[in-house]
Parts: sequence; structure tokens; C-alpha cells
Amino acid sequence: MAFPKGFLWGTSISAEQVEGGWNEGGKSPVQIDYAAAGDAGHMRKVWFRNADGTRGSMPAFGKLPEGAKYEIFDDIHYTNHEAADFYHHWKEDLGLFAEMGFTTFNTSLAWSRIYPYGVRNGVNKEGVEFYRNVFTEARRLGMDPVITLYKYDEPVWYEETYGGWENREMIDEFVEFAKTCFTEYKGLINKWMTFNEINILIMFKAMGNSNLSKESIYAQTHNQIIAAARSVKAAHEIDPDLKVGCMIAGQCAYPLTPDPNDVMATYAGFQEGFCYCADAMMRGRYPSFAKRMWENDNVQMTVSEEDAKDMMEGKADFLGFSYYMSGCITTHTDTEATAGNLFTSVKNPYLKASDWGWQIDPVGYKYTLHVLYDRYNKPLFNVENGLGAYDKVEEDGSIHDSYRIDYHRAHIQKLKEAIEEGVDIFGYTTWGGLDLVSASTGQMDKRYGMIYVDMNDKGEGTFERKRKDSFFWYKKCIESNGDELD
Ligand code: BG6
Repeated sequence: MAFPKGFLWGTSISAEQVEGGWNEGGKSPVQIDYAAAGDAGHMRKVWFRNADGTRGSMPAFGKLPEGAKYEIFDDIHYTNHEAADFYHHWKEDLGLFAEMGFTTFNTSLAWSRIYPYGVRNGVNKEGVEFYRNVFTEARRLGMDPVITLYKYDEPVWYEETYGGWENREMIDEFVEFAKTCFTEYKGLINKWMTFNEINILIMFKAMGNSNLSKESIYAQTHNQIIAAARSVKAAHEIDPDLKVGCMIAGQCAYPLTPDPNDVMATYAGFQEGFCYCADAMMRGRYPSFAKRMWENDNVQMTVSEEDAKDMMEGKADFLGFSYYMSGCITTHTDTEATAGNLFTSVKNPYLKASDWGWQIDPVGYKYTLHVLYDRYNKPLFNVENGLGAYDKVEEDGSIHDSYRIDYHRAHIQKLKEAIEEGVDIFGYTTWGGLDLVSASTGQMDKRYGMIYVDMNDKGEGTFERKRKDSFFWYKKCIESNGDELD
């Protein structure tokens, strides 16, 4: 059997994408609470009121213009406000997870439920208890949850009070939040991850699709890296048995041509997009090519002695990563673009793509598993892997999502091969096993789930849950510890 005994199987979801209850239980607003849905061809936008009274919008993760304020507008439907309504359905959802045989699941904690208005204004007990109930029930059902502390959702209060992650005050705030979580959930949660896809701003920089300056992107990323390192140290002090990983958005790209310039550009893309953050967190120092990045981007970056020490002492225990698709890179300009996971790439003629233009590539997955294990030599955890698709509910309520089964079968097959070839990985969680709100487009109709949630982009639906064909397929796969993939 390729998969080791105790291999963790499950799914990954996130607070802001499934919970809803956006203003319940003492939770404060986060930026995405002000974002409208886009569609297959358009990213979602965050809406606000400008200082002169006009309406404005910007891409998610962006920075408000001077004097602007977030505002809820009556004529916009905000898909995250209710999302999949996990906040009220969590018991039923965990029951369905258990029915599929999950031995783990991953979600993020909403910081805005734990410290809605900063550490100085106190912990919100209702938020702490909400997650305690969720984790206790998950354990009772046989799951060993792996929990992410941060998934792009600090309370807006931090932006208003400190200006957000550019400010080093955020480091202490985050570490306090992390310590509260490690302490409150001691014995319930043994594996944590600090920041989801911490490399996302660096990737935005490369694609030029953010309104943040390069200085801001480097400063925010650095402050998050330091906050993560100090949290790892704090976790080990609170409980030496805790394992704390980092989580990096997977990046798999091929040179479009054998032109050595394409090969170099592809390697540089991997270094900058993935390894810049992963090296800092797994090896405890920025890679040598970081200097090239800072110089090319004309930013002044100095790493203080204290930060360097924290990075070295707070290395992550494992490497969590997401993988959805691959792309191509070229220095030639006569190419066709494809859409991607919050980024675009060049079309690969050998691959098929999803309805959102994401190129499906299980071989790229195996390649990624090898590259990451070779480079970091620490256990891997594949936190996200999945296919966003439109699903059709038949008259009898069934959902025949053979495309999703094909996707996961092909990827799990490659995972199995990689393990047989020596890659050390302790778990696989599909992305969005419960239908949820898409991060890039804000849609509910872009579905990843094995559990259907009756809710659409316009807010129509009952939140009823239905088992898709993939639900039964994944159950069989887990029962056989990955042996039965037909
Ligand atoms: C990952 C994010 O990069 O991609 C998730 O961590 C996101 O939050 C997932 O949902 C899929 O992307 P999308 O845009 O289809 O939701």
C-alpha cells in the first residue's frame, strides 16, 4: 500500500468562504465582507465610499484610497455574508465529513471572531467557544483537524487602527492571537498552519494586479513571515508536541519553448513566486536571490538581527501547499493567455482547462511534490487540490460530477506514485469539499464540493446539503486508504 497508515484524508475550507454569520457572535467585519461577486471572466471587487462621497472599488487585498471608508451598499449582494452558512450548519457538515470517513479537515479561524477589535479590546469568548465546539465535535467524529490561523481576514479594525500589515504592530497582535489559539485549543488541535498562501502578494506583484506598491508588498510579507516565525516559537513553548507548518500557494510552470531565456524565466518565476517565502519559513533565512528581487524592484529591505534570529529559531515544522493547475512561462510575446488561480499564465497546448481556464495537470502535481520535497526535505501536507466547476442538480436531486472524480482520481494516482518514489507527505485535503464562495471571483456557482450547498451567486437557495457522486467516490477512496480509485 502506497499511502502510509494514518495518512490524513479530508477537505479544506476556510472561515470567510464557508461560515457566513458575518456580523454574528461578536464577529467584526473583514475586507471581504465588502466584496461583490464577479463571474468566470471577472475577479471580484471590494466596494467603498470615497472621501468625496462617490463610490469606489478595488481588487481584494488592495489598500483603500486616502479618506475612503468601507460601506455596505443595498444594491450589492455580498456572497460572503452568508457563504455556505457553516456558522449555523457546522454540526451537519461535520457529520457529512465523518460519513465520508475523513480523518482530518482543515479550516481557518476567523481572527475577527477571536479578537474582533484588537488584543487591547479583549478576546471574544463567543468566538472562542464557537471553534471549541467545532473542534470538539470533529475529534468526537474521529478527525484530527489541521487549523490555519490566518486566511487573508484580519479585522478591518486593524487597517483603520494600524494601516494593516505594513505596520510592525501587527506582528505582536498576530502573535497574541496565535498564542490565544494555541492555549485555548491545546489538546484539541495538534497541527497548525500560520498564514494561508503567504506568497500571494509576491505573486500579485509579479502579475501587476494589485494596487499595492512594491514596498508595501515586501513589507507586509516580511511582517507576516516574522509573525509566523514568532508564533512557531510560541507554539513550541506552549506545547512542545505542537507541529506548526507554513502554507505556500503551489506554483508549477514549464518553459513554453526550449529557448534558454524561457527556461531561466521559468526558474526565476519559481524562485521568486514560491521559494522566496518558502525558504524564509522552512530554511529560516531569505534565499540568496532575494537580493536580486529587492534590487530589481528598487526597494530597500534590511533584515534586522532580531528578525534574522526569529526566522532561524521559528522555522516551520512542515510545508503546507496548495496545488490546482500548471502554467507556462515565456519571454516571447506571441502567446495566448489563460486564466488562473488569482493569476494568469500562458496556455499549454498539451493540457485541458476548467471552465475558468485553469489548466488541469496531474503530472505537474507529481513534479511539484518531488521538487518541494527535494528542496525542503521536511514533511509535506497538500492542503488544497480541487476543480471548480458548474454542477447540475438533476430532478431526483442527484449530482453527477464525474469531471470532479476524474480530477481527484488523476491527482491522487500521481500522489501515490510520488509517495512510492520517496516523497514524505502526511495528508491530502481536497479544496472546498463543501461548496463555498470562490476567493478570486466571489461566486458560489464555482463549485469545488463533494457536498452541494443549495445557494447561488444571487443569494437564492435554502442552504440544503446534497451528496454529489464525488461524495461516494471519495468515501470509497478513503475507506481503502487511497487504494480504490475506480
Ligand atoms: C486557493 C485559496 O488559492 O485557491 C482558496 O487558498 C481559494 O481560498 C482556492 O478558494 C480556489 O480559488 P478560487 O478563486 O477558485 O476560489
